Amino acid sequence: MARTHHPRRTVLAALAATSLLALGACSSGSSANTADNGGDDTITIGFAQVGAESGWRTANTDSIKSTLTADNGFDLKFSDAQQKQENQIQAIRSYIAQGVDVIAFSPVVESGWDAVLQEAKQAGIPVILTDRAVDTDDDSLYESFIGSDFVEEGRRAGEWVSQNLGTEPINVVELQGTTGSAPAIDRKEGFADAIADNSNVTVIDSQTGNFTRAEGKTVMEGFLQAHSDIDVVFAHNDDMALGAIEAIEAAGKVPGKDIKLISIDGVKDGMTALADGKISYIVECNPLLGPDLAEIAKKVVAGEPVDKRIVTKDEAFDQEAAKAALPDRKY
Ligand code: AHR
Repeated sequence: MARTHHPRRTVLAALAATSLLALGACSSGSSANTADNGGDDTITIGFAQVGAESGWRTANTDSIKSTLTADNGFDLKFSDAQQKQENQIQAIRSYIAQGVDVIAFSPVVESGWDAVLQEAKQAGIPVILTDRAVDTDDDSLYESFIGSDFVEEGRRAGEWVSQNLGTEPINVVELQGTTGSAPAIDRKEGFADAIADNSNVTVIDSQTGNFTRAEGKTVMEGFLQAHSDIDVVFAHNDDMALGAIEAIEAAGKVPGKDIKLISIDGVKDGMTALADGKISYIVECNPLLGPDLAEIAKKVVAGEPVDKRIVTKDEAFDQEAAKAALPDRKY
């Protein structure tokens, strides 16, 4: 699908131009999507999580569970979809049947959500997206989308490769995230954009490792068997990079020297490998979305306007920056 004709990107591009600027560009809680929690101040929120595939996801789940607490005015119903869209749809339908005040979820994949989101809308239950976007032409199906700019993350990784590894030809293998997920699609696109004008950098192979350490290792073993000339691994998350490091070491090569690794997330294990010289550069993806979700959920239930798109701020770390950041790293 041509990038400029991608419906989600069209919607998000239009939103990005407006929602970051001012609250005046907010969507308001429409009567159809403003929850009525019956005068009880406690907000019942159903959260359908992707799974427990990575250190990032564990940190994200911890942030949500430690923020949406009874003390903070929430009754949290939490489900783990084990990276399966059908499980997530089932969980959302169950939250609709229970009549929760708000539904929040991080979509496993981008497409295929319109039907269940229509059901939530018809039931008058507002939906908040966290972390990952959905691909829809109808942005009235959700109130707000809180999360990182994944295209930008991929772009920053590609720019680092392009600008820091000299002028000799550089062969890159790419470990993609879950097929069809927003971060896998967007990070691939951002990286490709960033290296497009640099003819020295070539992606020679690209396969999914499903955001897990085990699959990252298996796919890297295949890359090492298929290619004798790998210079760089671009992993869509730290866990796959850590799996790739195991495969590289088992093949008798030295990660960080024989093969350089670039990844995304900035979880403690990834930052430790960066500080140890095994990874060369990490673009952060902030998983601590609980506080923003709590704030937006409260506003939505109160019928107050909310930003349609909230972009989480991410940093990036080289080896020296990782050493400095590690002692205070929260996840
Ligand atoms: O959607 C965010 C991504 O999902 C993280 O980068 C990855 O680690 C997680 O599994």
